[in-house]
Amino acid sequence: MSEQKFTPRVFSGIQPSGGLTLGNYLGAIKRFVQMQEEDFETIYCMVDLHAITVWQDPADLTRNTRELAAGFIASGISPEKSILINQSQVPEHAQLGWIFNCVARMGWMKRMTQFKDKAGKNAENASLGLFGYPALMAADILVYHATHVPVGEDQKQHLELTRDIAAKFNHDYGVDFFPMTEPVIEGAATRVMSLRDGSKKMSKSDPSDASRINMTDDADAIAKKIRKAKTDPDALPSEVEGLAERPEARNLVNIFAALSDRTVEDVLNEVGGQQFGTFKPLLADLAVSKLAPISTEMARLMDDPAEIDRILAKGASQAREITAPILKRTYEIVGMVG
Ligand code: TYM
Repeated sequence: MSEQKFTPRVFSGIQPSGGLTLGNYLGAIKRFVQMQEEDFETIYCMVDLHAITVWQDPADLTRNTRELAAGFIASGISPEKSILINQSQVPEHAQLGWIFNCVARMGWMKRMTQFKDKAGKNAENASLGLFGYPALMAADILVYHATHVPVGEDQKQHLELTRDIAAKFNHDYGVDFFPMTEPVIEGAATRVMSLRDGSKKMSKSDPSDASRINMTDDADAIAKKIRKAKTDPDALPSEVEGLAERPEARNLVNIFAALSDRTVEDVLNEVGGQQFGTFKPLLADLAVSKLAPISTEMARLMDDPAEIDRILAKGASQAREITAPILKRTYEIVGMVG
C-alpha cells in the first residue's frame, strides 16, 4: 500500500435547522475563521441534507440556510478565501454518503449518542435519515479528502466513526484512498452549556430561549439572559481547580475566556474573588461588544439574498472541482462501470 500525501484541507458544517447560538460560534465558527488564515484550504458548509433528517418547514429551511451563510460571512469567513457551500448543491456528498451506508455497520451506528439523544424514547418513529446521518457526515468530510475538521466536543464520536469508515473502506478495497481525518476540538469553549442548566449543552433546540444566546439577539436580550443565568452563591475562584464542581460558574468563565481569546487561568487571575453581581455585567458587555457587530452585519447581508445565493452557487462549482474526481475514483475502486 502506498502512503498517499493529502493536501492540508479543512471541512466543517453546521445545520441550518434554526438560528446560530453562542455555542456554534465559540465551539465552531470562531475556529473556522482562524483556520482560514492558516495553511489550509478551507471548505465550510450549510448541511441542509442533514437538517431534513428532522422535519423542516421548507420556507424556514430556505431562510435558515441563507441566514447561516450570512452568519458565516459576518463572523469573518471570506468567500474569497474559503469555499462556502450548501450541501445539496454539491451532489457528491449524497453520492458518497450512499457508498458509506454500505461500509458502516449497524452496530457502529447504534452506538451513536446523538441519534439516541435526538430520537429520544420514540426511536421507532425517527427517520431512517436520522439513523444514517453519521455516514453522510463522514461523506461530507471524505469527499474532500479533508485532513482536519474543527468542531465542538459533541461531534467527537461522529469524527471517530468517520475514521472507522475511512479505515474500513481502505481495508476492504485494499487501497490507501481516504485519509484519517484529525478532529480539531480546541479552545476554552468546546462545550458551551445551557445558561439555565449547567449539565446540558447550549442548543438551538432547547425549548427555553433563556437557555441560549442567539447570534441574532440584541444587546438588551444578551444582557438580560446573562444577568438571569443560573449560578451559585459563591464568589469566583482564583484557580481553575475551584471550578471543578461548579458547572454554571465554569461555563460563564469559559465563555468569557473564549470571547476574549484568553485562557481560563488568565481570566481567573483577573476576576477571582468577584461575586456574580460584578462578573455578569462584565461578561454581558464583552458578549455584546463581540456579538452585536456580527448580528448587525448578518441583518445587512440578509437584505440581499440574491447575493448570498450567488456566493453559494460559486462555492458549489469550486467545491465540485474537488469532489467530482474523488467520487469518480471511489466509483472506480468499488467497480462501478462508468
Ligand atoms: P451542529 O449544527 O449541531 O453544530 C455546529 C457546530 O457547532 C458546535 N456546537 C457547539 N460547540 C460548543 N458548545 C455548544 N453548545 C455547541 N453546540 C454546537 C458543534 O460541535 C458543531 O461543530 N453533525 C454536525 C454537522 C455536520 C458536520 C459535518 C460537522 C454535518 N456534516 C461534517 C463537521 C463535518 C452538527 O449537527 O452540528
